[in-house]
Amino acid sequence: MKIKINTLILIGFMSASASGAAGQPALKDVFSQDFLCGAALNAAQFSGTNSPEVELIEKHFNTITSENVLKWESVHPQPGKYDFADGDRYVAFGRQHEMFIVGHTLIWHNQTPAWVFKDKNGNPLTREALLERMRDHIFTVVGRYKGKVKGWDVVNEAVAEDGTLRQSPWMRIIGEEYILKAYQFAHEADPGAQLYYNDFSLENPLKREGALELVKKLQAQGVKLAGIGLQGHYRLDWPELPDIDATIEAFGKLGPKIMITELDVNVLPTPAPWNESEASLNFAANPKWNPYTNGLPQNVEERLASRYAELFKTFKKEHQLISRVTFWGVGDRSSWLNNWPIEGRTNYPLLFDRNCQPKAAFQAVIDVAKTKGG
Ligand code: G3I
Repeated sequence: MKIKINTLILIGFMSASASGAAGQPALKDVFSQDFLCGAALNAAQFSGTNSPEVELIEKHFNTITSENVLKWESVHPQPGKYDFADGDRYVAFGRQHEMFIVGHTLIWHNQTPAWVFKDKNGNPLTREALLERMRDHIFTVVGRYKGKVKGWDVVNEAVAEDGTLRQSPWMRIIGEEYILKAYQFAHEADPGAQLYYNDFSLENPLKREGALELVKKLQAQGVKLAGIGLQGHYRLDWPELPDIDATIEAFGKLGPKIMITELDVNVLPTPAPWNESEASLNFAANPKWNPYTNGLPQNVEERLASRYAELFKTFKKEHQLISRVTFWGVGDRSSWLNNWPIEGRTNYPLLFDRNCQPKAAFQAVIDVAKTKGG
């Protein structure tokens, strides 16, 4: 009888933990004195169909970001037609687990349907009409989740690599005031929500200068920015740590909290510019760009672990400026980096592997958290 019970307990334990969640320290606990720890979620995760990843999310994270479901094309696919099915599930998941819920993103140049910028005859919209469309979108989406989504990436990626404002359709039709207006509308729609500016490659000096100017200008215009999102789409060898640290400090001086909002480390060679995360980049598949289909070689696994260790040492050192570190995904299998900038590759950018088991990089991050004075 005793053997049977033990066997049952063992079976129960194994099935309750298809992931590597059991027996590991939780990221959100080991960094509880430093910053929130989070992940971007897709529909399979917050709808509960990917249960090993759900276990990891419940265990390790106290904040979540919507990877795709609150973007314009998902939530507002046609004129006058909103679809909140996935958005509602995402928010319900976060509330059920008492997580800090982030909404990503209101105004962006990608994943925004072409109709947004056209009138019903297919002609470019006037400035006034586009501002009104933007207002309607922000009021409807932010209004629906008022008091529930606690922070919004209001404007995403408005600065170009050379530090000028990106020539997006928003910019071309409205002019740079589109940015100020987006923050004003979001604030009116939910005065209690935190409002963020979110971008990638801000570690590059020209782009950083441009974004610093933008933030200062918005502040002078009365926008209360609660956070600056440094996306953190990094590589093994880029950016260098001093540039990451300098970026955290430069934005931190302006007042808003720093948030590492989309952290991952791309380990694959790439024909893309090494410092960009432009979602629109796309190259043809070629085995030379996909070298690790049968597993990550030990030496690269170790480089990834050291890279994560040095990143978290920096984040921990700057914990007074940083309020949140969010990974762009949970396990390697569902990372966007398997499909960007070449579709169908095998990438290894996160702390948990394709079977949701913790990698050497996970242990390296836990070790940083436990290092005194680290
Ligand atoms: O929804 C369609 C689905 O119907 C179709 O069957 C499938 C076939 O490919 O595509 C699905 O759309 C994909 C979508 O993700 C949802 O999964 C798009 O092809 C794909 O391009 C899209 O990629 C997203 C990317 O943004 C697009 O801009 C990634 O998942 C998402 O991780 C990524 O996230 C961005 C942040 O929002 C902003 N910062 C950069 C970051 C990485 O690009």
